[in-house]
Amino acid sequence: MKLWDLYQHAVADLSSLMDEGTASFEIYCLLEHIFGWNKHAVLLRKDTECDPQKESDFLQLLERRKSGYPLQYLLGSWEFWGYEFSVGEGVLIPRADTEILCETVLEAAKAFPAPRIADLCSGSGCLPVVYSKEITHADEIVAVELSEQALPYLKKNVEQNDCRNVRVIHDDVLTWTPDKPLHIISSNPPYLSDVEMQELQKEVTFEPEMALLAPENGLYFYRILSQRCKDFLVSGGLLAFEVGWTQAKAVAALMEQNGYINIQILQDYGGNDRVVLGYKE
Ligand SMILES: C[S@@+](CC[C@H](N)C(=O)[O-])C[C@H]1O[C@@H](n2cnc3c(N)ncnc32)[C@H](O)[C@@H]1O
Repeated sequence: MKLWDLYQHAVADLSSLMDEGTASFEIYCLLEHIFGWNKHAVLLRKDTECDPQKESDFLQLLERRKSGYPLQYLLGSWEFWGYEFSVGEGVLIPRADTEILCETVLEAAKAFPAPRIADLCSGSGCLPVVYSKEITHADEIVAVELSEQALPYLKKNVEQNDCRNVRVIHDDVLTWTPDKPLHIISSNPPYLSDVEMQELQKEVTFEPEMALLAPENGLYFYRILSQRCKDFLVSGGLLAFEVGWTQAKAVAALMEQNGYINIQILQDYGGNDRVVLGYKE
């Protein structure tokens, strides 16, 4: 088949599941993954006959994608804040929503001369990697993750982005204690309730339950971490959480009960509550 015919056939096929613009974007991603040609190169090679093996590999990926399997797992990597992250089954795909938490920490870090930062529940490592690249005056960045499946991705992403001041710790954030006081703690913990787990989009069902589900209506990690983290922060230190869009008030209340001050709720680009932050007095 000619490359352009393959493109058109694939977009029409995938458009049964999503709008045509998104389908076109995804097909260009998959073509680049298999043939090594980006959108520009594909447009210049419209009449090129496809290598039969590559065409067959591409059509297999298309079928997998049509079953709801995430594009990012098919590609094996995804971008966050302009950096590349290896992803696959067992690790949460970095989301654009998480940029709000990232932005919050990058801004807050300016107030500390040599901040020690911990990111709890690090998954792919999207947050600690960006902190390491962008907070060039950081003393140390610690990334804590419990999942045996996510840990190899975290280690690989720290390594491939050449983040030498990131220390990866395989531990449970609910019991882990840092060896030095911290200036900033961030966390995007699991926060979906049982009910929300029943209503997941098909794509999300392929992601690890351990990254998504939390007891107490999704508030479990916020309750324990609010309690524990105040003992780990320096005076004036920041605790910042990503939250589900309905959880901000409940998380702010937990932080207030634990004595944090200047508590704020920040919205994402869609206008939903997305980050709750507070400072140790
Ligand atoms: C919502 S995901 C966030 C991943 C990453 N921070 C991001 O923003 O893409 C939550 C992560 O917490 C990890 N996790 C769940 N329970 C944990 C625990 N008790 N201790 C440490 N990590 C845990 C999961 O494996 C998952 O990687």
